Amino acid sequence: MILHRMSAAAAGVVLLAAMTAGCGNGNEVGGASGTDDGKITLGFSQVGAESGWRTANTKSIQESAASAGIDLKFADAQQKQENQIKAIRSYITQKVDVIAFSPVVETGWDAVLQEAKAANIPVILTDRAVDSQDKTLYKTFIGSDFVVEGQKAGEWLVKEYEGKTAPVNIVQLEGTTGSAPANDRKSGFEEKIKADPKFKIIASQTGKFTRADGKEVMEAFLKANPKIDVLYAHNDDMGLGAIEAIEAAGKKPGVDIKIITVDAVKDGMQALADGKINFIVECSPLLGPQLMELVKKVKAGETVEPRILTEETTFTQAQAKEALPNRKY
Ligand code: AHR
Repeated sequence: MILHRMSAAAAGVVLLAAMTAGCGNGNEVGGASGTDDGKITLGFSQVGAESGWRTANTKSIQESAASAGIDLKFADAQQKQENQIKAIRSYITQKVDVIAFSPVVETGWDAVLQEAKAANIPVILTDRAVDSQDKTLYKTFIGSDFVVEGQKAGEWLVKEYEGKTAPVNIVQLEGTTGSAPANDRKSGFEEKIKADPKFKIIASQTGKFTRADGKEVMEAFLKANPKIDVLYAHNDDMGLGAIEAIEAAGKKPGVDIKIITVDAVKDGMQALADGKINFIVECSPLLGPQLMELVKKVKAGETVEPRILTEETTFTQAQAKEALPNRKY
């Protein structure tokens, strides 16, 4: 990416320029608030484009805004909290009707959310939570229960090794450090396996939710640990990167090393159907339609539920084969 080669200051200038230029293609923050045409204006700050899940989530939000007749101002934060804070401040300056965002990390949001509240702009959290004591800083939070997702992964593992006594060496590829899905998928999983001492997490490191980092970290895990029985990856993309590393090391993913991932995007489901992944916990990215309903409600001053949970399931290899032909993302 061009921005990666720039100095931080230059990158900041580029970002601000993008945020203030009215591009009108739904991909930038820019433009004046759309209140004059009677449309609701939504400012949305997305985490980035780190995974297949995120791409599907962005598509869902952009398509749903278009079909709901909502004027969407969209900014990609490239996995940086400072970019999200800048985008939110820009939406406040532009006096958008509603702000929604998917926080890259859990902490450090109170100041900017106070600013939105002082400007009377309602905020909706999508996908990820913030760690704030002040629940009045946002109207609602729509998304998955990541602790439950981690628990489902742990429950599958416990059943898979039921009745066996030999040690099970587990490596864990964590999501973005400090993010709600990384924190919660880790704690939910560990809670379910901790009662049985045969389960040992021998290595755990972030793969930043990306395929490239998943591959790199798995290569290091394989070099350092001669016996790995199970890989738990916090998303499909990291699992898919790890599969490449496992195959390059001459081992069979899904057989020599059992693999559990989270998301159930098409590529992950294909690997599951092909026997390279053993179990996937679903995390749905299709939050757009519900988000647009909520945007209309909060703009109209209606009361909304403070927590809206996404419905999701799990997939075995047989279930993936059945579901794949109709998988939308
Ligand atoms: O917050 C949801 C997570 O973020 C998805 O599981 C992962 O793929 C994404 O990057």
